Amino acid sequence: MESAVDAAIRARENAFAPFSKFKVGAAVLLRNGSVVSGCNVENASYGLTICAERVAVFKAVSEGARPGDFACVVVATDAAALTPPCGACRQILWEFCGDVPVVLVNLRGERREFLMKQLLPEAFDVSNLG
Ligand code: THU
Repeated sequence: MESAVDAAIRARENAFAPFSKFKVGAAVLLRNGSVVSGCNVENASYGLTICAERVAVFKAVSEGARPGDFACVVVATDAAALTPPCGACRQILWEFCGDVPVVLVNLRGERREFLMKQLLPEAFDVSNLG
C-alpha cells in the first residue's frame, strides 16, 4: 500500500496539465505486489484528456493485468479537498479492480479511504450483459 502511495505522488509530478494546471497522480497495487502508476494527460481538444486513474489502470492492463489482479488504487493531488475519481474513472475502476480500497492522498499527508462500492453503488458491469 505505501509503495502505491509513493508511486502515485511521484507520478503526479509527470502530469501533463497545461490547461487545468491540476496535477493528478494515480497508482494501482496488484496482488502480485507490483505497482503501476499514471498521471493525467491533457489535450488542447479538452475532451480528449485522460485522467490519471485510467492511465494507471490501462497501463497495468497493457502489461497483462486482468480483473481480479488489483488490490488497491491510490489517487494523489495537492488539493486540500482530497480528490475522488471522476465518474468515468469509477466505471473503469469498477470493471477492472472491483470492490477494492481507493485511497485518496494529498501532499500534506492527509488520507481518506473508500471502497469502490461506496464510490459506485449499483454499478453497471459485465454481469448485466447476461
Ligand atoms: N482528473 C484526473 O486525473 N482524475 C480525476 O479523477 C479527476 C480529474 C484530471 C483531468 C484533468 O486533467 C484535470 O484533472 C482537471 O479536471
